[in-house]
Amino acid sequence: MKLFDVYPLIPVTITRAEACTLWDEQGEKYLDLYGGHAVISIGHTHPHYVQRIKEQLDQIAFYSNSVRIPIQHAFAAKLGELSCLHDYQLFLCNSGAEANENAIKLASFATGKSGMIAFSGAFHGRTSAAVALTDNPKIVAPCNARTDFHILPFGDLEAVETVLETQEIGGIIIEGIQGVGGIQVPSAEFLLGLEKLAKRYHAKLILDEVQSGFGRTGRFFAHQWVDGLRPDIISMAKGMGNGFPMGGILICPDFEASYGLLGTTFGGNHLACAAGLAVLEVLEAEKLQQKAAELGDQLIEELSKIPQITQIRGKGLMIGLDLDREAGPVRAELVKKYHIFTGSASKKETIRLLPPLCVDWNQLNSFISALKEILKT
Ligand SMILES: Cc1ncc(COP(=O)(O)O)c(C=O)c1O
Repeated sequence: MKLFDVYPLIPVTITRAEACTLWDEQGEKYLDLYGGHAVISIGHTHPHYVQRIKEQLDQIAFYSNSVRIPIQHAFAAKLGELSCLHDYQLFLCNSGAEANENAIKLASFATGKSGMIAFSGAFHGRTSAAVALTDNPKIVAPCNARTDFHILPFGDLEAVETVLETQEIGGIIIEGIQGVGGIQVPSAEFLLGLEKLAKRYHAKLILDEVQSGFGRTGRFFAHQWVDGLRPDIISMAKGMGNGFPMGGILICPDFEASYGLLGTTFGGNHLACAAGLAVLEVLEAEKLQQKAAELGDQLIEELSKIPQITQIRGKGLMIGLDLDREAGPVRAELVKKYHIFTGSASKKETIRLLPPLCVDWNQLNSFISALKEILKT
C-alpha cells in the first residue's frame, strides 16, 4: 500500500534520538533545533519520561472516560501548580487542532453565537472550525469555509471592534506567539485590548498555546508575559506530551460543565497522562522554563550580530529569523553539511528555531557558527 503523499520530506531516516540529538540509519548524528514541529519539550527519550510510560504500560494503557482515572487528576494538579492557573478546569483531548475545535465549540455554546475572529498569519489546525480560522485558503476545503468566521489584520483592534459591533461573534482566537506565521509576537496592548473587547461584546477570548506553551517561551504559557491577562480558554498540545499525542484546553471558572457537552474516546487516557505528568515533572526538576528564557536571550543577542539576518523575533526558545535571502537552501545546507535540523515558516525568508528545552549553549553555538559560514557566501 502506498502512503498518501502529502509531506515534502527531508531526505534523512531517523532511527534513534536522545535529548537534542538524532541519529540516522547509518549512525550519523544530527542536532535537533526543531523538535519535530515544537513537540519535543523535555528532550527525546528522557529517562524519566520513558520510565513513567513503561511503568504505566505495564499497569493499564487505556480505559475510556466512563470510569475514574486518578492520573488525570494528578496531571491536572501538577499543571495547575506549574502554570499557576489553579482555578481553571481541564478538558483533555489528543491534538492541537482538536483542542482548538473544543475551545471554539465551548465559546459558541457559552455565548450562543456562531461567529469567530482570528488573525492574519494564524494557524490553528486542520479540523473543521480550526482550519476555517487558519489563514491559508489552500488548506480550507469548501465544506469548511464559513462566512461568519473572520480573519482580521494581526494587531488591528479597530477592525476587531467593527466586526464585534456588527456581527454575532462568540469567540476570538489568537496564538500566544504565532508559530507557522513566522514567530510573530502579539503586543501586550493588542492582547489586553482583545480581552477588553471580548468582555464588552460578550465573546470568549481563546489563547492558542499549542506551540508556544509548556515553558517554551520562558513563561509557562506565552501570554503570561502579559501581566493581568486572563483568557477564557487556553488550548495546548505539542510540548505537553513530548511526542505522545496529547492535547487539552484550560477553561476559566465561569464556564459550567454538563454531562456530554464535550467528549472524546482517547483523550486523557492513562498512558497520555503518564507522559504528560512526566513532562511536567522534568520541566520542574530541570528548571527548563527558566533555562529557555536565559538561553533564548543569549541566542537572540548572538544572532543579532549576524548582518545577513534582517529581523529576529520571539521569546525563549521560540525564535524566528528573517534572512536576506530564501531560507530553504540555507536550511537544506544546515542539514546536509552541518547536520542541523531547523524549521520553516509561511514566509520564505524565515528560519524557525524550536529546539527541545534541554538544548545547551554549545549546541546553539554550533548552529550560530554553521549559519555564519553559510551566510558568508
Ligand atoms: C498554534 C497551533 N495551533 C494548532 C496546531 C494544530 O496542532 P495539531 O497538528 O496537533 O493538530 C498547531 C500545529 O502546528 C499550531 O502550531
